[in-house]
Amino acid sequence: MIEEKITSPSFVNGDIDETLRPSSFNDFIGQDKVKDNIKIFVEASKIRKSVLDHVVLYGPPGLGKTTLARIISNELQRNIKITSAPAIEKQGDLIAILTTLEEGDIIFIDEIHRLKKNLEEVLYSAMEDFKVDIIIGEGTGARTIRLNLPHFTLIGATTRIGSLTGPLRSRFGIIERLDFYDEKSLKQIVGRSSKILGIKISEDALSEIAKRSRGTPRIANRLLKRVSDFALVEKVEPIDRSFSDYALTKLEIDHKGLDAMDRKILEIIIKRYKGGPVGLSAISATINEEIETLEDVYEPFLIQQGFLLRTPRGRVASKLAYEHLGIKYHSIEEDLSLF
Ligand SMILES: Nc1ncnc2c1ncn2[C@@H]1O[C@H](COP(=O)(O)OP(=O)(O)OP(=O)(O)O)[C@@H](O)[C@H]1O
Ligand SMILES: [Mg+2]
Repeated sequence: MIEEKITSPSFVNGDIDETLRPSSFNDFIGQDKVKDNIKIFVEASKIRKSVLDHVVLYGPPGLGKTTLARIISNELQRNIKITSAPAIEKQGDLIAILTTLEEGDIIFIDEIHRLKKNLEEVLYSAMEDFKVDIIIGEGTGARTIRLNLPHFTLIGATTRIGSLTGPLRSRFGIIERLDFYDEKSLKQIVGRSSKILGIKISEDALSEIAKRSRGTPRIANRLLKRVSDFALVEKVEPIDRSFSDYALTKLEIDHKGLDAMDRKILEIIIKRYKGGPVGLSAISATINEEIETLEDVYEPFLIQQGFLLRTPRGRVASKLAYEHLGIKYHSIEEDLSLF
């Protein structure tokens, strides 16, 4: 089985991601519903001896979309070609990738919502009929040739399923959403990682890291590494709960797992915009962070934890956010009839 990276999608944390990435369903902790479903579909395609239907995996960054795609290829014992939508420039590039696939191969396209319209059109017939049309020649001499493609599985990953166009979305037979992990799963994940990395750490220190990882395995692994850096330099072994608390505080991760940027966002909404409602673009301009990053990376966790509310008129800081930042609550319901 070959794993070929056509272009490398931007991994925030390349090295750690690679060493700690689970390669089988057994090592993939949590997300039971998604995992169980995918296992069935993989098994069924093996029994049927047909290629797996096209899959789209969506959810916030760092929850395991790329990991699952690779696990699927391992379990199916099929080659996987990995690319990302922004890296594919022209129709010709996409056609070149598709025509070099072998029967049953998997093509993984990260950030699939960013695929250009003319490329999406190539995918329609490729996904549905395993055919592509190519135009040969120019002007009056131009003609279209229809090429047959091998049967393949496209696995798309996206942080924003809402940005997929209807026609593209409807061509995926399997649509699965990854959600934030619970503390128990995250603890297992950092436990596994600490063993792989040879880090000596107590159970309650693992819990502390799990609790403060924004429900995200990538962040949990990163925090584990950073805490172990502190321990290494300060010659602390094994890492216990109070040391991990100390190191996490140094990293500006508070007890609810919010980082400096999370708190800054809430603070701006409360102090500059009187708690909201305020549009994302205004927040983005104030803190100099891209709207897309705010929407994909920060907002989902703040909403899930109840610090931020989404209203038709913009984002609003919740009572919980005021309490968390130690600011006296000013109810917006008194001023506006929002709810
Ligand atoms: N269920 C899991 N069990 C153990 N480790 C996991 C799990 N899911 C993710 N990880 C770890 O988290 C890292 C990040 O996962 P992955 O790269 O698959 O996220 P992603 O959803 O593709 O993120 P992005 O949207 O940023 O591309 C992996 O390298 C792996 O180490
Ligand atoms: Mg990924």
